[in-house]
Amino acid sequence: AITVDPAAKGAKIDDTMYGVFFEDINRAADGGLYAELVQNRSFEYSTADNTSYTPLTSWTVDGTAQVVDDDGRLNERNRNYLALAAGSSVSNTGYNTGVHVEAGKKYDFSVWARATGGTVLTISLRDADGTLATARKVAVRKRGWAKYTATLTASRTSSTGRLSVASSAGAALDMVSLFPRDTYRNEPNGLRKDLAEKVAALHPGFVRFPGGCLVNTGSMADYSAASGYQRKRSYQWKDTIGPVEQRATNANFWGYNQSYGLGYYEYFRFAEDIGAMPLPVVPALVTGCGQNQAVDDEALLKRHIQDTLDLIEFANGPVTSTWGKVRARMGHPRPFHLTHLEVGNEENLPKEFFARFTRFRAAIEAEYPGITVISNSGPDDSGSTFDTAWKLNRDAEVDMVDEHYYNSPQWFLQNNDRYDSYDRNGPKVFLGEYASQGNAFKNGLAEAAYMTGLERNADVVKLASYAPLFANEDSVQWRPDLVWFNNHAAWNSANYEVQKLFMNNVGDRVVPSAATGTPSLLGPITGAVGLSTWATSAAYDDVSVTGADGRTLLTDDFSQDASKWTHTGGGGWSVQDGQYVQTDTAAENTMVQAGDPSWHDYDLHVKATKKSGK
Ligand code: AHR
Repeated sequence: AITVDPAAKGAKIDDTMYGVFFEDINRAADGGLYAELVQNRSFEYSTADNTSYTPLTSWTVDGTAQVVDDDGRLNERNRNYLALAAGSSVSNTGYNTGVHVEAGKKYDFSVWARATGGTVLTISLRDADGTLATARKVAVRKRGWAKYTATLTASRTSSTGRLSVASSAGAALDMVSLFPRDTYRNEPNGLRKDLAEKVAALHPGFVRFPGGCLVNTGSMADYSAASGYQRKRSYQWKDTIGPVEQRATNANFWGYNQSYGLGYYEYFRFAEDIGAMPLPVVPALVTGCGQNQAVDDEALLKRHIQDTLDLIEFANGPVTSTWGKVRARMGHPRPFHLTHLEVGNEENLPKEFFARFTRFRAAIEAEYPGITVISNSGPDDSGSTFDTAWKLNRDAEVDMVDEHYYNSPQWFLQNNDRYDSYDRNGPKVFLGEYASQGNAFKNGLAEAAYMTGLERNADVVKLASYAPLFANEDSVQWRPDLVWFNNHAAWNSANYEVQKLFMNNVGDRVVPSAATGTPSLLGPITGAVGLSTWATSAAYDDVSVTGADGRTLLTDDFSQDASKWTHTGGGGWSVQDGQYVQTDTAAENTMVQAGDPSWHDYDLHVKATKKSGK
């Protein structure tokens, strides 16, 4: 029985309580939310992004063409261009199965080109069945780099299109682009409509962006001659604004290239469009997600702190301010109303992180006392790192602390009371990432049950976002995810429906209630257990999984059949000499094996002998 006391007043629930976390993982940006249809438009793909990449990845050449990096480049931040010989053409394969176009819709082609004599470019769209749009001709005059445009109207719908550019005489090409005219709210350099609409339909209270591990991994250097045009650099907002042809692409922590076409301006604009509070995350000069190094460089720290102050000015400053003027030039003179900002993500080295965090916080509070500066509690929801981080945050009277956890559905059911005992006078909680391990109905149900516990504690838990938001079905670094897509379709998970239910029905205040009786737990779960390791290569042996009562679910010494394990994550693994050997050094690897479907006690304990770094 449930007893409700309508007269009693529980916690006030903020309108912003439930939000989304967008990270460019699973190709959520390029080939995802960012509507650009051409992959590797600037010929900047590199083996630093992915060992299988070349500057011509996703392009096929008919005739003669080569990628060049010389003094004739478009600009210092976009160094490669394509030298296309007379009578030759190049075709782009887009994302997933190809370039997706819909009959009757318009597509905006653009290219930066330079020719030593006059030349004519012929732009066409085809698939295996033939023409998809009437070809367009673009005359490139004899002069320096200039942008040329054309509009193509699709005559048929296809998801396997190829965009081709043929040149009558020699030409240099860069930023070969094709955008649907029909982007979300028809905005230029805009977002893929169906995906943006799915986020908008949630009515999220906030958008946390751009990561995740994306933010606090890699070099903290900028992109400049002085730092050797570093590619594996942390996500730095200044890299991602201004004209798209001047945004230097970067290797993505999740193993591919990021064009930064979807950058800070576009994130702020999207948050505003959908009525959500923008919540950026900046790196704190401690690398995380398996890299775990504190960067000791006072000048660099000062530069990152100044960059963060500049970010606040970019978002909120008047058009007369240095960075407010940049925002205005990009098309948004009005401020974006930034109120919350997070420093660091899942910081594994609490003391080193905190020493830097306090420097960021002091500088921000001195100049912008109205901004809530959010701190971190580390990568796990318990353990000594977590305890140390929480103590440091509590002692320093930090406003808000970000917690992350990915657990079994059973964990979510059993920990509904997690925040009942949190200190009411301590820092508030931002549950920036959480998910139960799966996209099945039972996962959504367990998350819904858990969210009632968040809401009951809305005086402590101020913000909460499921993670990750998007996954391209052909490029999955992490699962589960809220929304799945390919180049022409998108579909919701059960978890999405739960988030939508809560976000569209945010209450004003908790009405205290009490329940008697024992709620029945979820039915049998087809078990999946994972071994999760970060970054450094490692070898494992002797895995065993037992339930809370000691029953054995599975054991494996890896001497047998490797095929019974499913491997997810960014890189390689193999079974060698009776050991599970992780060969990838750039991303998380998870090995999963289905467990006993009749297993009812989900409090699993995974043991594995970690042999050593290999
Ligand atoms: O949400 C996926 C990843 O999970 C994030 O990048 C990271 O913060 C966490 O480990």
